[in-house]
Amino acid sequence: MTDLIPLETDLAAQIAAAGDLAALEAVRVSALGKTGAISALLKSLGGMSPDERREQGPLINGLRDRATALIADRRAALDAAALEAQLAAEAVDLTLPAPPRRRGAVHPTMQVMDEMVAIFAEMGFSVAEGPDIEDDFHNFTGLNFPPKHPAREMHDTFFFNEREDGERKLLRTHTSPIQVRVMQRANAPTGAPQFAAGQEPPIRIIGPGRTYRCDSDRTHTPMFHQMEGLVINRAIHMGHLKWTLDTFCRRFFETDAVVTRFRPHHFPFTEPSAEMDVQCDRSGGAIKIGEGSDWLEILGGGMVHPNILRTCGLDPDEWQGFAFGLGIDRLGMLKYGMPDLRDVFAADVRWLQHYGFSAFSAPNPASGLS
Ligand code: DAH
Repeated sequence: MTDLIPLETDLAAQIAAAGDLAALEAVRVSALGKTGAISALLKSLGGMSPDERREQGPLINGLRDRATALIADRRAALDAAALEAQLAAEAVDLTLPAPPRRRGAVHPTMQVMDEMVAIFAEMGFSVAEGPDIEDDFHNFTGLNFPPKHPAREMHDTFFFNEREDGERKLLRTHTSPIQVRVMQRANAPTGAPQFAAGQEPPIRIIGPGRTYRCDSDRTHTPMFHQMEGLVINRAIHMGHLKWTLDTFCRRFFETDAVVTRFRPHHFPFTEPSAEMDVQCDRSGGAIKIGEGSDWLEILGGGMVHPNILRTCGLDPDEWQGFAFGLGIDRLGMLKYGMPDLRDVFAADVRWLQHYGFSAFSAPNPASGLS
């Protein structure tokens, strides 16, 4: 008969000495595994006489239960120690300086666009869009540019190669094609896809977007941004246009000191037509508004030409309207004192950090001025 006491003492020592879960498992297998010492003892019960079994059974089972409990305790202790070690290893040292994190900035053009949209939205305008790659009809013909007229050249157009069917697409030279698209949709036949709310006559939309012309100097870049405006209703006149643009300018520049002037001009798509300038001072390298003797042109506008209304299926005797095209980047230059338009698209990170805006700090979407 085996003396169980040395076996238990030895086992307890081995369990206590097991330094990790693998070592503990080895001890468990040696005692309680299929061929383990305690398992062998349990098996030997089968060969004992009933008296022996009655005596030995409780002893061996007790040994098995205590060994099992010891192993479980040790496993829990090892688990806890492993967790402790992991926590210690992964501890966050809050006293360490934070790693430098570069934050992007909102590009001034996007900031200005957002501000403009917010101001016009308050005046009841909704936003319309059109494609950057346009066709001749929407960019020129539908806007009353006569065919083969030099006015088309005036825009320094980027044309794509002619397609097999003879069509030659182009990069839109202005956002005015959006007008035609909106008016055509407004007059869509019954059953045509629904137009968005606010796009049926009366119409009051703005259309911001990228525009392209082959041109480059301090105030021109081959890609720039415009915002089209279009109002169509009954009995609309030039006074509505002037009020809208003057009101916009005062809100945009956040001062009543803005001085604007309308100069007579010619656009094929408006009659009468005008350009609007903002008074500014450009003498010191930066641009300041509300002072100085310079004028910066920021938009063209006028009363929508009856030919365009007719082209879009609207009766000029019933509907009139005004339209305008604002230079978004130029407005940004004026408001935020950026002297050279080419820098705006040079993607120089230092310039962007300087002139860019925080995505979170502007308290009022219509104001980037601090
Ligand atoms: N599309 C013109 C340009 O790019 C600007 C313009 C003038 C837009 C008169 C208009 C308008 O809507 O009525 O020079």
